[in-house]
Amino acid sequence: MKWIVLLPLLLALTFAEEAEDNELKIAEECDREACKLPECRCSSSDIPGGLKPRNTPQFVTVTFDDAVNVLNIETYRAILYNRRNSNGCNAGATFYVNHEYTNYQLVNELYNRGYEIALHSITHRTPNSFWATATYEDLVKEFVDQRRQMSHFANIPMNAIQGIRKPFLQLSGNTSFLMMANHGLKYDCSWPSNVHTDHALWPYTLDHASTQDCPIGPCPTASIPGPWVMPMISWRDLNNFPCSMVDTCVFFPDREDEDEWFKFIMSNFERHYFGNRAPFGFFVHEWYIREYSGVRKAFIRFMDVINNIPDVFMVNSNEVIEWVKNPIPVNEYREKRCPSHTPSVCRHASCGPLRGEHNNLDYWMQICTSCPRNYPWFGNPLGQ
Ligand SMILES: *[C@@H]1O[C@H](CO)[C@@H](O)[C@H](O)[C@H]1NC(C)=O
Ligand SMILES: [Zn+2]
Repeated sequence: MKWIVLLPLLLALTFAEEAEDNELKIAEECDREACKLPECRCSSSDIPGGLKPRNTPQFVTVTFDDAVNVLNIETYRAILYNRRNSNGCNAGATFYVNHEYTNYQLVNELYNRGYEIALHSITHRTPNSFWATATYEDLVKEFVDQRRQMSHFANIPMNAIQGIRKPFLQLSGNTSFLMMANHGLKYDCSWPSNVHTDHALWPYTLDHASTQDCPIGPCPTASIPGPWVMPMISWRDLNNFPCSMVDTCVFFPDREDEDEWFKFIMSNFERHYFGNRAPFGFFVHEWYIREYSGVRKAFIRFMDVINNIPDVFMVNSNEVIEWVKNPIPVNEYREKRCPSHTPSVCRHASCGPLRGEHNNLDYWMQICTSCPRNYPWFGNPLGQ
């Protein structure tokens, strides 16, 4: 009885506190004694668990950004489906999906194939400055609401959605991490590192000050326990310039030349594999491998190679965070049961036209639940 009376009050207090960020403490230099796994890790290139490189699984995180649609699903089906790592588990990949023009039936398909679905905002709006200066409320509406939206329209469990990538990799200082901490989002994979590529940073938390370079600031400087930073370790292009996504490299081999592209990918991979085995990212937009046959063939060849190396594992990004929290040597890791997920049905519905209030365009939606009354958007994620 008491709780029924108290609950609204408690909720009101919690929300008042949430929006309040002027009480944030500046993050202090990391204290290795105080900061211990599984919940805390200093930003560093040390291998978790004090493992030697040769005992450390080399994780490869393949990620695709933006809307999932009938065109790009063809690429995903062709190059990813039925691919396995050398331990027999399905090879993973992570999709950072934004809402507009996303086909949620296909998101459901990706989820059921075991891939990770993560957040890339509802609006993906321009300009970048919106994201640089976004308020706490904006970010709740872009990401926390998107998690509900994704779960609803693709019919996938809310708790399967744990990661975010900011549009244009534009960070928002403390604010996005605070939003994540308060709403149980586990990791961010938007923060490039151009400096720490040889001794690459492993994922870390923000309890203490980050030592990572900040190419697209503002970067967080407050102490924010909870969410993990999964640094986007840049590749080095042919002139040694850093590129955070494969399609943003400036000096690259002829994109019709499979052999040269394969060498280019391998040389970046080997920096990790023969170094401290920090997770190696292949971060790309689908159009880049659809458009350029050399890149596509080289990428497939690269995956074929690593899927046959006993200590390399192509996994969903959230599995990397799980490993970092509880690091185990590669021989033990190989023996683990494969990750599994609860299958989820999609009851197909095709909806539209739905008028977008923000731009007066008509949209059609392919979803796994009954049709919304309005076009779902910022501030009305379920289109009620
Ligand atoms: C983040 O929080 C710290 C500590 O309160 C503050 O000094 C810093 O200016 C904040 N960063 C931004 C970009 O607002
Ligand atoms: Zn994007």
